[in-house]
Amino acid sequence: MSKLIFIVDDEQSISKLLSFWVKDKWGYDVEIFPNSESMLKKLSSRPDLVLLDIMLPGLDGIETLKRIKQADEHLPVIMLSAQGRIDVAVDSIKYGAYDYFSKPIDQQKLELALKNAIRNYDLLKEVQNLKEHVKKEYSFDNIISADGKMQDVFKLVSKVLDNDISVLIYGESGTGKELIARAIHYNGNRKDKPFVVVNCASIPRELLESELFGHEKGSFTGAHQRKLGKFEYAKDGTIFLDEVGELEMLLQAKLLRVIQQKEFERVGGTELIKTNVRIISATNRDLKHAVEQKQFREDLYYRLNSFPIFIPPIRQRRADILVLTEYFLEEFNKKLQKNVKGFTKKALKLIYEYDWPGNVREMENTIERCLIISEKDHLDVDDLPQHIRAADTSASVDQQNVMFTDYNIIPFEKIKEKSIRHALKVTGGNIVEAARKLQLGRATIYRLMEKYGIEG
Ligand SMILES: Nc1ncnc2c1ncn2[C@@H]1O[C@H](COP(=O)(O)OP(=O)(O)OP(=O)(O)O)[C@@H](O)[C@H]1O
Ligand SMILES: [Mg+2]
Repeated sequence: MSKLIFIVDDEQSISKLLSFWVKDKWGYDVEIFPNSESMLKKLSSRPDLVLLDIMLPGLDGIETLKRIKQADEHLPVIMLSAQGRIDVAVDSIKYGAYDYFSKPIDQQKLELALKNAIRNYDLLKEVQNLKEHVKKEYSFDNIISADGKMQDVFKLVSKVLDNDISVLIYGESGTGKELIARAIHYNGNRKDKPFVVVNCASIPRELLESELFGHEKGSFTGAHQRKLGKFEYAKDGTIFLDEVGELEMLLQAKLLRVIQQKEFERVGGTELIKTNVRIISATNRDLKHAVEQKQFREDLYYRLNSFPIFIPPIRQRRADILVLTEYFLEEFNKKLQKNVKGFTKKALKLIYEYDWPGNVREMENTIERCLIISEKDHLDVDDLPQHIRAADTSASVDQQNVMFTDYNIIPFEKIKEKSIRHALKVTGGNIVEAARKLQLGRATIYRLMEKYGIEG
């Protein structure tokens, strides 16, 4: 395809001569403008180079150059100056001009400069394209990662964007399961349709069925009117079943039917409702194990698990610790209107070596907290929470416990309370996960939280 050159000069004799060279002799397409304003309006037609006179009526050459660079910093601009105004021409290089020529212009030199500039620009555009391509394919807005393991995850994600295959996302709490589910939805062909989240663990069993499928008026005590379920809200979109492993057997059966027959009834209703919702689910449990334990239906497991994606915990992708630290620092600086420059080396070392059992969520919370409480320019070791400071790389958080290091005997109740608070903190408030780590039933943890006045 022929290249397009813009020529901006108020002197007709010059633009005619330039056009003769550029178009008739060198074979480029040309468009001539008597002033900058008219040229700037046409920038959207994507010229490959601009020949720009410095002395122009209206906007002068330097000002025009700045505007061009704002629109496309790589678009090459060659400045043309009248004799004796070479100082301004030199100045233009500072603002990103590719080259400058003073009149009378040396034809051969200009031809060479033009050629080189255009080739350069082509290359830059190619690199840019490549970058965007990679970005589109393997990375997603606001998912930050530098680790190869996550790049593999992104590759998998990019394969399921535009189809309806059921994706099951595995990962410890706080690893970014929901973020990945959203990325799948919002980068896929359902992006203009709803993305609806249902947390199968946080909704009491009795209500979950109606939450998912809706209910008819009077279908049970308290059902004063018809209610639509999440499957209906998610029409043509995606439903994200978080903690799907917590689904009880009865609902597992109903979900299986929705997947197989693409229809369901509201609770207490008879009308068959068609659905073509895409299902993405997530779990931090070993679902296969749950199947073996007969806690999860095998047939449903295979349906949901058509395309499993495993998100590794932070401690297995340490490269991400530092990029995420930087990212959250920037985010919370903005959000909290602070200007913390970074962490000291010692603090960074601790951050890097810590295991982050609560994964990215724990990092996010920790950095926000650090920024809130500290007034320093560079956050230091003493700005980090005690458990990170105390972390010795050889001991995991579960083992080390500051409480037992002194000889005071601590009332048992206090230890229980501390243990629960700690578990909730580490899991970012994820009660199911905390219960699992504490090896307690969910009911027990709820009861204890109430007892100690811990908010969910
Ligand atoms: N790679 C990442 N880049 C930026 N932010 C991230 C990344 N991974 C996770 N986060 C952030 O960390 C937090 C936890 O992520 P998310 O809720 O997706 O995790 P999860 O696996 O669903 O956790 P849980 O099991 O606790 O529900 C969110 O605020 C999310 O935005
Ligand atoms: Mg989640």
